[in-house]
Amino acid sequence: MIDLLDLHKRFLLAHLRPGDVAVDFTMGNGHDTEFLSKTVGETGKVYAFDIQELALASTRKRLIESGCPDNWELFRVSHHRAPEFVKEKIRAGIFNLGYLPGSGKKELTTMRETTLPAVDAAVGMLGEDAVLIVAVYPGHPEGMAEGEALLGYFSGISRFRYSIAQIKLVNSPTSPYFFVVESK
Ligand SMILES: C[S@@+](CC[C@H](N)C(=O)[O-])C[C@H]1O[C@@H](n2cnc3c(N)ncnc32)[C@H](O)[C@@H]1O
Repeated sequence: MIDLLDLHKRFLLAHLRPGDVAVDFTMGNGHDTEFLSKTVGETGKVYAFDIQELALASTRKRLIESGCPDNWELFRVSHHRAPEFVKEKIRAGIFNLGYLPGSGKKELTTMRETTLPAVDAAVGMLGEDAVLIVAVYPGHPEGMAEGEALLGYFSGISRFRYSIAQIKLVNSPTSPYFFVVESK
């Protein structure tokens, strides 16, 4: 069976190497931050963003307890402001849109008004041979609307600089899906 989380990792690993710079734009409980940190290793760098202190605390705990190298920096800042904090070009970025699992605060979900500027900023942050994953959860109304807005945005980007695919289960319209952006 197709495992979307496994596919995220495969796309990331097709580009990301030790020593690279990566960004987790929605750190949540830090699963992706941990994966990025371990992949780029002690010579690399990972920046992670979330608007909730709970996410930073949970991620910090995960990174320390799982033995991640000392290569990460966490920001309690909305992801659309990432370029203010990340000055290098990045090799990989990931958005896992939606709300913090287990927090009970579903109102603190990602919203189109900030998601679109954040994804636009992230595309601009990609260096050569880089990858951006944007995972969408259309099972709730804002997630559905985010996905439609992102499809419109990505459809307008030049194919000469980026290839952009949408990976989704066509026989399960409310299941999560993702966009993958690869720079040339
Ligand atoms: C589905 S969770 C991410 C899961 C995470 N990748 C993990 O591995 O656990 C989405 C996260 O996006 C965060 N979020 C919502 N709006 C945001 C924003 N404007 N900037 C950054 N993070 C935001 C939420 O607080 C939530 O923690």
